[in-house]
Amino acid sequence: MNTSQITETAVELVAPGKGILAADESSNTIKRRFDSINVESTEENRRNYRELLFRTEGVNEFISGIILYDETIRQNGADGAPLVQVIRDRGIIPGIKVDTGVKPLAGAPGEQVTEGLDGLRERLAEYAGLGARFTKWRATYAIGPGIPSRYCNDVNAHALARFAALSQEAGLVPIVEPEVLMDGSHDITQCFEATESALREVYAHLAAHRVVLEGALLKTNMVLSGKDAACRAGPEEVGEKTVVCLKRAVPASVPGIVFLSGGQGDDEATANLNALNRYAAEAGAPWELSFSFGRGLQAAPLKAWSGNMANKERTRKAFYHRAYVTAAARRGAYSPEMEE
Ligand code: 13P
Repeated sequence: MNTSQITETAVELVAPGKGILAADESSNTIKRRFDSINVESTEENRRNYRELLFRTEGVNEFISGIILYDETIRQNGADGAPLVQVIRDRGIIPGIKVDTGVKPLAGAPGEQVTEGLDGLRERLAEYAGLGARFTKWRATYAIGPGIPSRYCNDVNAHALARFAALSQEAGLVPIVEPEVLMDGSHDITQCFEATESALREVYAHLAAHRVVLEGALLKTNMVLSGKDAACRAGPEEVGEKTVVCLKRAVPASVPGIVFLSGGQGDDEATANLNALNRYAAEAGAPWELSFSFGRGLQAAPLKAWSGNMANKERTRKAFYHRAYVTAAARRGAYSPEMEE
């Protein structure tokens, strides 16, 4: 393993003012996104939409890396150039989602475990050959009566650690993603506790599996009230609780933490990212606090596109704007007036 190479890539991915675009929706997820705008999920439509985003002029000022799905890393753009090359030519780092999705966890109603370890070493070698420099693996944790259980925390942390060790062996930076889901009516304290215990377990396993923390990033949820909670916490409380929770569980040698948007509205995710960066600037935090948004960056351009290439400029404008405001929030410099 070339430790200095993966450490450099990890630092580059969380460079000041920049963050990651998650464009790694699986076939099922992208179909759901396209259904919402009444567009058929064909290979050509998926390619056209994603290529539009990747070719948005100036977006590399705010985007350091793009996470791709297996189909996309093998696709060529409309002019025949591989999409990976399109991304690289803009100075953006290509990455790849390598888990194969979540399945019900045996004997644990309501809980899930992530699959994809079988054959992973060989797949990683192939992805590295196709130009990927980082990888992502997502584990999910639901909040409910008695869950997440220790069992769920343990199996998911184990899989994340095996994924991370194999990625580093292949010279790729793992983005370790434990996501406490925001579905439900739980309060912010329950999310805090679930996030803290998931993260503690993840870092215990990463240590046991000899993962080099300087060469791995954490992607996780903000500490939030449930989507259906009666009274949802505002940005200041989210900012403070998120940073306090992370400080308890994430080692200082980790170069950066990138947040998922997780079904928050795009303006909500941006305001919360801004608040947690402002809190961290005052209270001190040892890591870069950035973004790796899927919906938070794509909801607006997806709607602007609506499956019609005649909307190309509107789509790019919408994407550029989300990237611009999200990057501002990543520096604690966002204000709602920027939405106008
Ligand atoms: P969202 O920002 O839409 O939650 O997607 C990020 C992601 O990559 C989830 O794995």
